[in-house]
Amino acid sequence: MCGIVGYVGSRPSQGILLSGLSRLEYRGYDSAGVAVIGDDGTLGMRKRAGKLAVLRDDLAAHPLADGTTGIGHTRWATHGGPTDANAHPHLADDDKLAVIHNGIIENFAELKDELLAEGYTFRSETDTEVAAVLLGREYRASGDLVTAFRTVVARLEGAFTLLAMHEDAPGLVVGARRNSPLVIGLGEGENFLGSDVAAFVEHTRNALAIGQDEIVAIRPGSVEVTNFDGEDVEVEPFEVVWDAAAAEKGGWSSFMAKEVSEEPDAVANTIRGRVRDGAVVIPELEGLDELFLGIDRIVVIACGTAAYAGQVGKYALEQWTRIPVDVELAHEFRYRDPVLTPRTLVVSISQSGETMDTLMAVKYARERGAKTVSICNTQGATIPRESDAIVYTHAGPEVAVASTKAFVAQITALYLLALHVARLRGSLAAEVAAEQVHELEAVPAKIAQVLEAEQAHVEQFARWMADTHSVLFLGRHVGYPIALEGALKLKEISYIHAEGFAAGELKHGPIALIEPGQPVFVIVPSPRESAELHKKVVSNIQEIRARGARVIVVAEEGDAAVLPFADEVLRIPLAAPFFEPLLAVVPLHIFAMGLATAKGLDVDQPRNLAKSVTVE
Ligand code: M6R
Repeated sequence: MCGIVGYVGSRPSQGILLSGLSRLEYRGYDSAGVAVIGDDGTLGMRKRAGKLAVLRDDLAAHPLADGTTGIGHTRWATHGGPTDANAHPHLADDDKLAVIHNGIIENFAELKDELLAEGYTFRSETDTEVAAVLLGREYRASGDLVTAFRTVVARLEGAFTLLAMHEDAPGLVVGARRNSPLVIGLGEGENFLGSDVAAFVEHTRNALAIGQDEIVAIRPGSVEVTNFDGEDVEVEPFEVVWDAAAAEKGGWSSFMAKEVSEEPDAVANTIRGRVRDGAVVIPELEGLDELFLGIDRIVVIACGTAAYAGQVGKYALEQWTRIPVDVELAHEFRYRDPVLTPRTLVVSISQSGETMDTLMAVKYARERGAKTVSICNTQGATIPRESDAIVYTHAGPEVAVASTKAFVAQITALYLLALHVARLRGSLAAEVAAEQVHELEAVPAKIAQVLEAEQAHVEQFARWMADTHSVLFLGRHVGYPIALEGALKLKEISYIHAEGFAAGELKHGPIALIEPGQPVFVIVPSPRESAELHKKVVSNIQEIRARGARVIVVAEEGDAAVLPFADEVLRIPLAAPFFEPLLAVVPLHIFAMGLATAKGLDVDQPRNLAKSVTVE
């Protein structure tokens, strides 16, 4: 839940660290700090509770001597509240050594007792400071930072990315990772470390992904990667597929606004290169035909919005492949002894590729012999590296905490996977598959149409509703997970109570919540393609309207049946049923953003949340 950046080279490091941190702030934003080995040879450090801007202002007012070796951190608190003292870096060895950390060191209490018994003292409540003090002790013993670091990481339990530097060793930053991300950026006469490539993409797009339980030592002219035993290991180079501008806000009022506007591109880029002669062929899955021919069950695991994408995808995946599909929250999945066999395919979905619950569920599934495919948006992330195969979503960097463009890209990737598997298994007639491909390829233009036609309208009534205390969302079939997604988005950025329900469930309880004026969004299925369901949802609308609900319907163009009962109608273009969710979700994303903005809230960095949940 924290962002980490490291630099060694020949340029002053503070600006590089601060700009890296600004791109990583989505990972945590309750405190930030930097440490630099100044040109005078001494280690200087500054850290402040609050957003990065507080640290920036402090450094501007009271400059820290600059130098060419430094580390920086942006925090989402786990051990100890967001205070100056608990912020990172943590210092040890007479303040000559600085350490930053992402993750949780589970055996920190035991290590702390050991150090306290030896007379060491602590200035914070964090687990990180324990690692720093331990590293200081080991450095004193060996006189070599890399050796000391190796000794320390071998003693730590839990999940961690750690970076350290010592004023006795300018031009060296060491890092290690276990169940937490760390990537290397390769420059000319300079090198970088980061929680993800956003930390250094403005300086280099050449990167190395380091593996689980590995240690890296970067110097201006070299990068050495070993395992925790000190043996050299192979590292995987890759080129970052997007540039620094993609991770900038540009002229947009927020990253979320920019990312919603990029929903058409997220879908188009995810499809690109995966359709050949009207059929879906995913190049990354070539050579894995036996795997897909051998499975008899699919389990989709994910958390939050990614899990809702899984719920949408389930309908098509099951219908097109004729393989039974379950969708489970990753954190529930592995604590209930699920039935997994070598014929089970576990499909994980994660924008960040670092969500700890999802990662642990993937590992669990693999250990029990299941096959694993990861749908992921982040190159070099941990979950794809732990999976048998990867299907990347090409949504580009998603910075706002609320996931938007990644959601539509995840559904797209699931549909591509379903069509790829259906082709291999012959479970879908070629003409039907070709029609679905055609429908999918039409989605980007249709999303663009929704943005064009509905953005101003939705923003306007979101403003009118700024003092609303509760909003309900109803949907059915593929519209049900869209109702859940609409409610989650509203909760997380506008702090308004919101619930999504399956419309068919209404009379089994939720209708008791309807009182005069209660706003209810209803996702209405197409009357052309799903006449039966359409009729039922229209009846639901009448039922809530009769009890005074304020009804906002999301319905396809030309659907007149909803008009007599709707206070607001949001139109989406005609599409086949499986593709409606990719359109219906767009006004819900705009609504959440519009309402949060009307309340004066920061839509990119909502309270209590971080972009990727890297602790369980
Ligand atoms: O990075 P992931 O896709 O694994 O993240 C999963 C959830 O934490 C994420 O979708 C979360 O629910 C979002 N903040 C929702 O907008």
